[in-house]
Amino acid sequence: MNDFTQIVVTPGKPVQVQANPTAYPLIGKGLQGAVFKLSEDRCVKIYSKQIYCLREKQVLQQTGEKTAILPKVYETGENYIIMEYLTGPSLQEFLEKSKTISEDLTIEIINLIKELRSLQFMRIDFSLRHSIYDKNGKLKIIDHVNSFKIQRSFPKRLFKDLKQLGLLVTFLDHVNNQEPYLYEQWKKSLKIKD
Ligand SMILES: Nc1ncnc2c1ncn2[C@@H]1O[C@H](COP(=O)(O)OP(=O)(O)O)[C@@H](O)[C@H]1O
Ligand SMILES: [Mg+2]
Repeated sequence: MNDFTQIVVTPGKPVQVQANPTAYPLIGKGLQGAVFKLSEDRCVKIYSKQIYCLREKQVLQQTGEKTAILPKVYETGENYIIMEYLTGPSLQEFLEKSKTISEDLTIEIINLIKELRSLQFMRIDFSLRHSIYDKNGKLKIIDHVNSFKIQRSFPKRLFKDLKQLGLLVTFLDHVNNQEPYLYEQWKKSLKIKD
């Protein structure tokens, strides 16, 4: 059985996979969908509600051509998107192991943030779990159901995740070295707590 449309995903926190008669393994699930690996380079995200699918489709299709930081989209349906499978690790997994954050990685993260700004996303933020290395070692960002919806001008979630790993202070030190102006902006936002 290789018909992923037979997979049934229903709402829940996280969503529930009610049936999967296919051999495609579940990679992960969240509040909006469940993701299955189709091949070495493709996966399918099946949504619990069509509206989530529509919103993520709009983000990926409107901006995907203009940037290298989103997964490629291969095919879409009313409740699914077939997209590039990112081999990993996620930044969460990477930093949990390394227990330190380099200046180079900080620059990469700053560049992701700048790219989100230039794409005019509403949410200038991502979690460490949603930033994943592709097979060429480039970081991409997944989970865009709310990228045009949630208004956030500073990376609150990213800071929270880095703080939890004990890496926020080092990260911000690197930001201060590299981009003092950005550092000042973020320092103000941290005080106000968005
Ligand atoms: N393109 C992808 N490549 C590899 N893993 C992915 C991909 N998309 C999603 N995942 C995995 O599946 C999980 C759930 O997907 P996500 O888009 O976050 O769903 P939700 O919108 O429900 O939160 C992610 O946290 C990640 O581990
Ligand atoms: Mg998610």
